[in-house]
Amino acid sequence: MKNSKAMYALTYGLFVLTARQGDKDNGCIINTACQVTESPNRITIAVNKSNLTHDMVLATGQFTLSILSQEAPFSLFQRFGFQSGRDVDKFDGYQEHAVRGDNGILRVTQGACAWLSCKVVSTLDLGTHTLFLADVEDGDLLNSVPSVTYTYYQANIKPKPQAAPAAPTAKKRWVCVVCGYVYEGDFLPEDFICPWCKHPASDFEPLA
Ligand SMILES: Cc1cc2nc3c(=O)[nH]c(=O)nc-3n(C[C@H](O)[C@H](O)[C@H](O)COP(=O)(O)O)c2cc1C
Repeated sequence: MKNSKAMYALTYGLFVLTARQGDKDNGCIINTACQVTESPNRITIAVNKSNLTHDMVLATGQFTLSILSQEAPFSLFQRFGFQSGRDVDKFDGYQEHAVRGDNGILRVTQGACAWLSCKVVSTLDLGTHTLFLADVEDGDLLNSVPSVTYTYYQANIKPKPQAAPAAPTAKKRWVCVVCGYVYEGDFLPEDFICPWCKHPASDFEPLA
């Protein structure tokens, strides 16, 4: 590719993808929801196989998508995007910001402007991710705040990384352009995966 940064010119929204399996409620941040047909009304989502939410959607065939708005706080991205439901209960202490829909799945009301409840109709194995094709069965608008885009998140919600301290022996630092995680070391391994958002080394930029 002449310039891999051309990929950054693609636009995305940001969403909390939620599912329920047995008594377990969980959700994660995704940016990969996209309407693909109108009649029937269908969307696709791509979810990393290492996410617990992935396994829950695969097992139950159902999910809800909370469409995030420009009022979504960074803490929401930390809660749903920087930790796994395998380790924590992401809805613990979050009752005032979530409601259970008719499909039994919790959806997020904090920093969300709309929601869609969906039923999986087919899946495609993409290696690292599964692509889910789903029917939109229900949905509603919550308010008129504009949906957040990835670009808006980068510019206005994600905290700016601090400049590196000017110490002659300081290690080099790279920042994940997706979530802001800072890696320190002599070099950034090619196969490095961001521990917060699971994006690859190609999404890191050197910090001055
Ligand atoms: C801004 C942002 C965008 C993300 N986009 C995606 C995505 O499109 N697909 C995905 O599988 N994970 C995405 N993630 C990573 C998951 O939200 C993250 O790995 C989460 O901790 C998984 O939680 P779980 O194991 O409870 O499902 C994103 C994270 C952030 C912060």
